[in-house]
Amino acid sequence: AFTLVLAACGKDEVAGGSDSDGIQEITIKFSHVVAENTPKGQGAIAMKEYIERESDGKITVEIYPNSSLFGDQDEYQNLVANNVQFIAPDLSKFVGNNPQFNVPSLPFAFDNDEAAIAFWDGEKGQEILSSLEADGVIGLKMWPNGGKHLTNDERQIDSPDDFDGLKFRTQGGQVLEALYGLLGAGSESIPFGELYTALDQGVVEGQENTFSNIESKKFDEVQKYMTVLNHTRVDYAIFTNTKFWDSLNEETKAIVEAGVEEGTKVAREEAKALNDKAFETIKERGFTEITELTPEQIQAFRDVLQPVYDEFEDEIGTDVYEAVRAANE
Ligand code: LMR
Repeated sequence: AFTLVLAACGKDEVAGGSDSDGIQEITIKFSHVVAENTPKGQGAIAMKEYIERESDGKITVEIYPNSSLFGDQDEYQNLVANNVQFIAPDLSKFVGNNPQFNVPSLPFAFDNDEAAIAFWDGEKGQEILSSLEADGVIGLKMWPNGGKHLTNDERQIDSPDDFDGLKFRTQGGQVLEALYGLLGAGSESIPFGELYTALDQGVVEGQENTFSNIESKKFDEVQKYMTVLNHTRVDYAIFTNTKFWDSLNEETKAIVEAGVEEGTKVAREEAKALNDKAFETIKERGFTEITELTPEQIQAFRDVLQPVYDEFEDEIGTDVYEAVRAANE
């Protein structure tokens, strides 16, 4: 199994396997769906640079951004198959494996990135990240992106009454579907790599995303309206394949692990600044009319969306809700 695993990593000159000394000469693939100028894109680059530098070039990290290797509908199965060694999906894409991955979709759950980080670093978050181990997948560290905002091509949205007849693309999951149901709108899950075209062609009228995803994918070009709402989040974790991980000798693993830490540090430190900057760029480009809501207007959304907490309490868990609340303190 060992030889097969490393063959899948792309190089056949391997310095003897996990028992031998010396840094293994391997190529590691990291696939993701977003642009480079985003928290995830920058985290991946920092990780690559660290690992290649610290291994004196013995380890190569190939990054495939923009769904150029795998899209978000097939990156997980390719991680399970060890065709790729690292992915960092939006956690809400795992709701089919475990409904607790709906946490980033719970309305207004986290006050800021720090609270989301505290949740995923905490006991409950770690438990959820470990829940893919049966598939041979290890959840390593949470990487934040940020709060999501609404865009649509039909009308200005400043109240929950404005959704009538609209259909929104979501990242998927039962909670997001329920949220749009409460708003009286339709929803549909579409892969991120197909979203620009879907918006452009009017397959759906709108979508929700972070400023950095909206700006880097130019969704504002094809969406006349944007409402700053921060009602849900995009948060990632970096995942690896267990067989690949176990094939690394101590020295190699130490470098790769420290590389993951470096990527984590950059993603966590840069996420807010990258999103703030993307918001400025969206304003400057001027394609989309931006609505910023008053606290009263935001409260109206909180009130309408609140019932999802009761609806999903059994599936997600009272203990998880408690940990989410505690993470904000
Ligand atoms: C989306 O599908 O909109 C995002 O989850 C993409 C990403 O990975 O940030």
